Amino acid sequence: MQITPFWASIALLRVLPVLAQTTPTPTPTSAAPSCTASLVTSLCSYPTPGLDFAVASDGKPSCWNYCNAHPPCNFVIFAAGNPLTGTGTCWLYPGESFDASAGSSDCANPYLSVYDQPVCRGSGTPTSGSCAATATPSAVASVCGYPTPPDDCFSTCTASENASDCLSQCAKADSCSYVVFNPHNPDNSPYSSGTCWMYPSGTYDARAATTCSGPPEQFVYKNECPKPSPSSSPASSSASSSATARSSTETTKTGSTASGTVGAGTAAVADAALATTSKTSASTALRLTNPLAIYMAVLLWQGIA
Ligand SMILES: *[C@@H]1O[C@H](CO)[C@@H](O)[C@H](O)[C@H]1NC(C)=O
Repeated sequence: MQITPFWASIALLRVLPVLAQTTPTPTPTSAAPSCTASLVTSLCSYPTPGLDFAVASDGKPSCWNYCNAHPPCNFVIFAAGNPLTGTGTCWLYPGESFDASAGSSDCANPYLSVYDQPVCRGSGTPTSGSCAATATPSAVASVCGYPTPPDDCFSTCTASENASDCLSQCAKADSCSYVVFNPHNPDNSPYSSGTCWMYPSGTYDARAATTCSGPPEQFVYKNECPKPSPSSSPASSSASSSATARSSTETTKTGSTASGTVGAGTAAVADAALATTSKTSASTALRLTNPLAIYMAVLLWQGIA
């Protein structure tokens, strides 16, 4: 089969630039962020956080990371455990500010290090596909006795990691205008796990809540990132990506109407991919003028095939 090496080399030349293009670039989100934080003070005592917010920590940097990963975290306390290994416990107080008057430093060995909000590099935004407003939501009300959604939780209530998770579930739902987060954790904290009630329409009605006998048991959040209604945007993301592809390759496929966007968009993207590939192939071919390199490439290809 004399023709094989020829096709193989052509195929290889087409594959190489693709491989080159898809060489993974380091993504900042894959690595743990590196954080620094400034020491505010050292204490002997401070009110301990809720049960869910004291975690074993292998050192101060992990403690800063932990704070960074649980917004809103305005300060964090590292309680030194073992001075030889540097391990300890990390105390988190989501949503609270440091209250100097609540602590004491009257002891020989202040083992609590209070740090300001950490500054982190490479923390990225883990909220891919969701709207930023869900990351650090602020409750429009903290109440008790608010009724379940109209379908009595048949399809509108879910388990949720925290209020922010609840709100991002709401943002992903087809219709969700506000949520009530019911913490089911020892501290009644919206920053820990609970049940998420999603209201498909309407707005929070303050008159439907009852007075709390103790601390609030429900936290209400408005959905700031509702899904666009299906009628107003057919496949908007595909339309915008095809627009990018079109402009970069001067594809002449223009004027696709809203109703035909999906098919035309996909074709344009495919065209764009081909155009880029063949253009790069040509330049790679020019660079691969060394006969030895071509021969090696062909041998390699035959080895694979
Ligand atoms: C809320 O839960 C999500 C999903 O588990 C998590 O990624 C996020 O860090 C949590 N946020 C807080 C403030 O604990």
